[in-house]
Amino acid sequence: MTSSIKLHADQKVRADADDAAFTVHLRKAGTSVVFARDIFGLPAVVHWGAELSDADLPGLLATSQPAVMNSSIDIPRTFSIAAGRTFGWSGTPTLKAHDDDVQLEGFTLVDADSDGAEARFAVRDAGETVEAVFTYRLDVGAILHASIEIENLSPRWVDVDAVRALMPLPARASELMDFTGRWTHERHPQRSEVRDGTWIRSSRRGRPGHDSSFLTLVGTPGFSFRVGEVWAAHIAWSGNQETLVERLPEGAGVHRTVLGAGELLDAGEVGLAPHDTYRSPTVMFAWSDTGIDGITARFHTSIRSRPQHPRSPRPLLLNTWEAVYFDHDLDTLTNLADISAEVGVERFVLDDGWFHGRRSDTAGLGDWHVDKTVWPDGLRPLSDRVHALGMQFGLWFEPEMVNPDSDLAREHPEWILRELPILESRHQHVLDFSREEVVTFIVDRLDDIIAAAGVDFVKWDHNRDLHAALGGRGSRQVHSHTHGVYRAFEEIRRRHPHLEIESCASGGARADLGILQFTDRVWASDCNDPVERQQIQRWTQTLLPPELIGAHVGPAESHTTHRHADFSFRAVTALFGHAGLEWDLRGASAEELTAITAWTTLYRELRGLLHAGTTVRGDAVDSGTLLHGIVSPDRSEAVFAWVRTETSTTAHSPRVQIPGLDSARSYRVRVREEVGRASRHQIADPAWLDDSSELTLTGAVLAQGLPLPVLNPGQALLLHFTSDTEA
Ligand code: DGJ
Repeated sequence: MTSSIKLHADQKVRADADDAAFTVHLRKAGTSVVFARDIFGLPAVVHWGAELSDADLPGLLATSQPAVMNSSIDIPRTFSIAAGRTFGWSGTPTLKAHDDDVQLEGFTLVDADSDGAEARFAVRDAGETVEAVFTYRLDVGAILHASIEIENLSPRWVDVDAVRALMPLPARASELMDFTGRWTHERHPQRSEVRDGTWIRSSRRGRPGHDSSFLTLVGTPGFSFRVGEVWAAHIAWSGNQETLVERLPEGAGVHRTVLGAGELLDAGEVGLAPHDTYRSPTVMFAWSDTGIDGITARFHTSIRSRPQHPRSPRPLLLNTWEAVYFDHDLDTLTNLADISAEVGVERFVLDDGWFHGRRSDTAGLGDWHVDKTVWPDGLRPLSDRVHALGMQFGLWFEPEMVNPDSDLAREHPEWILRELPILESRHQHVLDFSREEVVTFIVDRLDDIIAAAGVDFVKWDHNRDLHAALGGRGSRQVHSHTHGVYRAFEEIRRRHPHLEIESCASGGARADLGILQFTDRVWASDCNDPVERQQIQRWTQTLLPPELIGAHVGPAESHTTHRHADFSFRAVTALFGHAGLEWDLRGASAEELTAITAWTTLYRELRGLLHAGTTVRGDAVDSGTLLHGIVSPDRSEAVFAWVRTETSTTAHSPRVQIPGLDSARSYRVRVREEVGRASRHQIADPAWLDDSSELTLTGAVLAQGLPLPVLNPGQALLLHFTSDTEA
């Protein structure tokens, strides 16, 4: 049921109000979120999960209160959108603000409306000092966008301590998974049972961090890629943040556990002058009854529906970082560009090292002028050559950072973000983007270079954590800095509407949907080792579609792990993202250049499918193997990688289920070996593979599984399924 309700500020909400009249039902793509007023008249989420019909609502509402327990409040417990201790909620409050050291409490509903797609609820504290407006929108992918805006209505100063979007989960959501990691090993999953208490993941790094919780999933026991009911949350924010999963012995109304997130604010960081407002980052919630892949499908649909989502074919790029590092010179880079064009590269990206004084990572950041000692004629000669070769030209910046050894730091020490004491990290400090003059200066510098050098693509790096000290009450330090950074992105994009931007942060430390409002891809990790990359991309892809995830082929020996890998394994791994090379091709052999050319051709053939299809992952066959694929939206085509990252105790590969295909279609099955043959750990392949060019199987058989070859560790087999038959 859709309803539009208007209360007025002077109408006090009563406990005996007509609950049914206040029901708001948001439903989209198999998901329902139902709000109704709780016993105190506050809106509460009475259902978040499988789609319900309006006919289900009376029964849902009639059963939305738990028993009254011993040694408890004498009315049924509730968990509203503005839950706090005043109404008997002893867990983490959604809103925490104070005025003259007195906490603001006793929130009541003053206004509510919904158009069926979005619901808005306004609540005020008992003293009517602040008004908080909660907005919930269910998008085309059934992702619930929740945000809260809080306004100071009083003539006094109000400090906002915490604003969190929290959603209740049923008792069966009893296992949780989120992510941790470090440089070159981002998005490492960790799982545990949900227990009483609060599982809280905080980032005080001024960016989500290599160890970002990224996406928090809570599901039925043993939930996997393909099986289980799962509820998930992601905060679209690039500054300090926290996510939490909380369970109290008394539950949360008729629910059991709470999942949510918010910006992590320092004491006094957000102070509101009269009529001032604070808007929380958006927290995005997803539900699925088809495991993690169901959550992924919803996020990918939602992300792909954004107007700014990149829709042109993702150009295959070469990035110069691991090719030449700081060793810039026109001849070297022209040579590299020539070879890049020959093998099929479409975008040539000049990484760190081109600007004034930047001969190593100890100096130069902030001085965004082309270094005349290295580039006497500027970047135009290289950029013109790159363009003449039919490629786009990309350039690296690290706009928020400054080396103490730079003209900028010497001229404007007051622009450096305050730290007590000032700690250098990678020999650099952070510029304070909460200062408008800093944003303007940096935007103008980038603007100049982008125009002068004909830049089509910017790699925007951010190589250190922020350890900002509070600049005084209400200084909104990291909060304002993060918004300043967003403004800089926005302005650059406004001035250069065709420019594409990559979000990099010493690899994948800023890969969130906040930064992706302004950027076109994330650099998932500084690790190009395919063994590591398989996992990093697999889990990054849980939230982000592959076209937004940078994935590069490096040389045989990885620069970050020093492990060796065959070309075919590196190539198949990088195929499943926005592909690129990060390799000094001047040293590549003729055979390697031929193999690279075959790979870039294959990428161009498959990218339409890879960047628009549905991501599917098989549940583990054994600990050493992975199966993942992309299925076209109409399920007429799919590409899968069968990967072995390590040895295992399983002595053969029994039927491996190929998920996501249409059981009614027939598929031609081909092993694609253009980039090389995966080496085997067996005497002979399964018989079907001997004459694979002839093999046609129904989706129903493939759902039962294919016996697959046992690969050597560090190998990947590419399977291509195509169907001419109608479903
Ligand atoms: C860190 C990035 O992650 C690398 O790819 C590279 O751009 C370096 N910074 C350059 O300093």
